Amino acid sequence: MKTYLEEDKDNKLDTLLLDDTTESLKKAGNIIKKGGLVGFPTETVYGLGADAFNKEAVKKVYKAKGRPSDNPMIVHISKVEELKILTDEITKDMETIMDAFCPGPITIIVRAKEEIPLETRGGLDTVGVRCPEDNVARKLIEFSNTPVAAPSANLSGRPSPTKGEHVVEDLKGKIDAIILGKDAKVGIESTVIDMTKEIPMILRPGVITKEEIEDALGKIVLLDPSLNKGLRVETKENIGFQHKADEADEEYTPKAPGMKYKHYAPKGEMILFRGDRQKVLDAIRKTKTAKEKEGLKVSIVDFSELGEVDSAKKLFSILREMDKNSVDLILATTLEERELGFSVMNRMIRSAGFKIIDV
Ligand code: TXA
Ligand code: MG
Repeated sequence: MKTYLEEDKDNKLDTLLLDDTTESLKKAGNIIKKGGLVGFPTETVYGLGADAFNKEAVKKVYKAKGRPSDNPMIVHISKVEELKILTDEITKDMETIMDAFCPGPITIIVRAKEEIPLETRGGLDTVGVRCPEDNVARKLIEFSNTPVAAPSANLSGRPSPTKGEHVVEDLKGKIDAIILGKDAKVGIESTVIDMTKEIPMILRPGVITKEEIEDALGKIVLLDPSLNKGLRVETKENIGFQHKADEADEEYTPKAPGMKYKHYAPKGEMILFRGDRQKVLDAIRKTKTAKEKEGLKVSIVDFSELGEVDSAKKLFSILREMDKNSVDLILATTLEERELGFSVMNRMIRSAGFKIIDV
């Protein structure tokens, strides 16, 4: 078997496909410890893991994904207590967040220890830390015997992987091993919250919502204003930022470097239809008929009907399914932009490249 541990001449590795038994996880942990790359399940989306302290391994993650090198990795730990391996500054608020939500689908941005390679943190002086809830993920990290840097295990720009087969699609031949575990329970990536300031700020919304975080901390937290891009109205989430969709458009650069890149994009075009349900359905039907006359393959996805939880869970796999079926145009209904709906809409709006029709 050729691995990244050896010279990689033709850029085609024999990727080991593993199940999630303890024996396989030990094997995979060993690969990470030796500087290799492993795709693995978590409760949010599948991750692509490498030893966070091995900069050569981390460089290979960027290469395998085709990821811009200024986009930092989230570092995964197997136990909450391991946070101290990565930072010297643990505040009361961080402890509160960790107590309330960890292990779980949340990433906290903290001041990084200098020993963490710059490659891992994309050149920043901070690092994102997450202790996943998923047992397979935590065992793998434990067997790797090091914190594990892991972005989502997709090719850069593609929808995130929520099933083992998605990782196989994108990364087979480019990484050392893939653990084919369960489908991701949540389906969208973790909430990212910057805890380095007095008032924490959410940089990427997730299944753990602003409201839940505020309840736990007993104070208001901010939302990165760039998250308002594409929103229709001032929602509960963007109170405090007196601008709306269009005004937020060019004004703010996202604070999470990864949020500025093209994201979650299916191969076909995607358009969201927002507003009164009957009007939305009429508009979608009309558009479908017109576009089919032009010879396009058109598919409808009714996220409103699916609801927030299932939309989160299925969004990325639906988009990948559309690609497989060579759909040219995806016409989709929307969710209310509040709580989990806000987080799922964040992904849907980006998948659609901000193409939204308000009816
Ligand atoms: O649920 C998740 O978080 C998944 C699983 C695998 O754990 N991981 C994930 O990683 O979504 P990735 O690399 O696809 O997204 C990480 C996001 C990027 O937008 C990145 O820019 C941001 O988090 N990020 C990471 N470290 C950061 C830091 N120090 N400061 C600001 N943003 C950071
Ligand atoms: Mg990603």
